[in-house]
Amino acid sequence: QPFDLVVRNARVATASDTFDADIGIRAGRIVQLGLELPRGMREIDAAGRTVTPGGVDAHCHLDQPMEAPVRMADDFDSGTRAAACGGTTTVIPFAAQQKGQSLRAAVQDYHHRAEGRAHVDHAFHLIVSDPTPQVLAEELPQLIAEGYTSFKIYMTYDDLKLDDGQILDVLEVARRHDAMAMIHAENADCIEWLSKRLEAGGRTAPRFHAHARPLLVEREATHRAIALSELVDVPIMIVHVSGREAVEQIRWARAHGLNVFAETCPQYLFLTAEDLGIDDSYLGARCVCSPPPRNRDNQQVIWNGLADGLFTIFSSDHAPFNFEGTQGKRPNGEEVAFRHIPNGIPGIETRLPLLYSEGVLKGRITLNRFVELTSTNPAKAYGLHPRKGTIAVGSDADLVVWQHGPRTLRNEALHHAVDYTPYEGIELQAWPALTLAGGEVVWDGRDFHPRPGAGRFLRRGRPSLLPARPDAA
Ligand code: URP
Ligand code: ZN
Ligand code: ZN
Ligand code: ZN
Repeated sequence: QPFDLVVRNARVATASDTFDADIGIRAGRIVQLGLELPRGMREIDAAGRTVTPGGVDAHCHLDQPMEAPVRMADDFDSGTRAAACGGTTTVIPFAAQQKGQSLRAAVQDYHHRAEGRAHVDHAFHLIVSDPTPQVLAEELPQLIAEGYTSFKIYMTYDDLKLDDGQILDVLEVARRHDAMAMIHAENADCIEWLSKRLEAGGRTAPRFHAHARPLLVEREATHRAIALSELVDVPIMIVHVSGREAVEQIRWARAHGLNVFAETCPQYLFLTAEDLGIDDSYLGARCVCSPPPRNRDNQQVIWNGLADGLFTIFSSDHAPFNFEGTQGKRPNGEEVAFRHIPNGIPGIETRLPLLYSEGVLKGRITLNRFVELTSTNPAKAYGLHPRKGTIAVGSDADLVVWQHGPRTLRNEALHHAVDYTPYEGIELQAWPALTLAGGEVVWDGRDFHPRPGAGRFLRRGRPSLLPARPDAA
């Protein structure tokens, strides 16, 4: 028999087209698309259902080492389980270099954390926090050549941030070796100055996190990141863009022909600063992330950028910390000042259903744009396309079959290891009825089908959002 599996009568959506087809799968790959394919060993009837490529979550944090006692709630087991149940079949979390640590050691440590645990395919971005001459001349170029073709750099957080000279140095490596640089753009000194003033005034509740990181802090750093990338003449990805002022900077850059790409995340569509608390309640700690959620007008600005092409990628920025317990946002019941609340919120499982329900089904973005933002473009930006990010002959058989119908989002129904979701109670209009990873059912709409260790580590190629430069090394 020619097929291990045929997904029949699918309404297939890619970033460019929507068409009816049977999907023939053999050895984990799509081997034929067409009408009335011969029977497979297994058959799945998708009649009347939309089928999209599995999601590629190009910005999520799993089991990333933290300063004790803080610890991420999700490792590669629970994190990729949640991803699969939400329709995401490829994740790219971060191998983070600690200051004083070699980049190579950070990567090796991270491989140990993933080994034997991942249920879906995965790759690692690097985080470069200590760009020593050795890192710049040897480690980073070597790791890029080995398939770690992207890295994140930070303009904030004391343990991670780089100064402008260091940023120029690492951007030059990205240019020379054709890697994608992701930039967390917030001005560290402004945040520090504001935080000290707030703290001195006794304003330490979670909601003051947003006061310490106003839009202009993000705008200034975004402007600077754009200028630094222009100076080096290298594309960049501005990650987790939150609101109007950074968007204006990115629009300006793109209008001037600069290759500045941008990512946004669900928290900037579905949360506001009020979710950090309208009084001094500590419950707002659950929604503390950076940049912080803004106001309703800014949610609309983000929707507009998703619809009109300003944004290239929609990721979760899943950063999983429990609210209760010893390792999370309220350590041993202690209500810490906002500066000490671990930054980040969970969202690896809810990313696709939220955007599909509120974006596609409410007419804010097209189905094809949904696929582009959540799967195709992340695969292209990080060197995984066309193996990932599309439904085509030769691509991995990573698919999501969608089921329409109302469903209330409840944390108890999610598969991460976090004790809350910031989206509790939201009414969704769709959810994955089936997720296939490498041609295997990992989620059937009711049950998760574990396959620990079957998720493969992916060596990545060059970013392909742009044509390759002929002079790249
Ligand atoms: O608050 C956030 N976003 N935490 C995750 C780390 C990062 O900066 O993306
Ligand atoms: Zn960040
Ligand atoms: Zn992040
Ligand atoms: Zn089942």
